[in-house]
Amino acid sequence: MKVSITRKTHFTAGHRLYNPDFTDEENVRIFGPCSNPNGHGHNYILEVTVTGELDPATGMIMNLKELKKIINEHIISKCDHRNFSVDVDFTMDIIPTAENLARRIFEVLDSKLPDGTLQRIKLFETENNIAIAERGDG
Ligand code: NI
Repeated sequence: MKVSITRKTHFTAGHRLYNPDFTDEENVRIFGPCSNPNGHGHNYILEVTVTGELDPATGMIMNLKELKKIINEHIISKCDHRNFSVDVDFTMDIIPTAENLARRIFEVLDSKLPDGTLQRIKLFETENNIAIAERGDG
């Protein structure tokens, strides 16, 4: 049986959704207020789910302290109070939508966690806008 655990954390960061290939009008039409020229912030909530075999000796899949440390070191410390397009090395080349951010956060954590344990990243940009990146076939 596989069991999963989720670590929930949060950070505050700024972004601007803008594609230089679009006109200013198109950017506003497509991205709305998230295209404001001077950027704006969100209070992001990040849920990281790992899965694996339960170790009978510890009753754990993974030590949550270790998971917390990896998330803090590789995601929170780099993103909190930063601008995704200017300050964060793994997001400065993408349009920082919740979907793109979830995908990149997945890739970063997947490379730091034991092989195949990262199952899902759930990123809440607002209470109602949520992006999920999860392990799949592709
Ligand atoms: Ni926004």
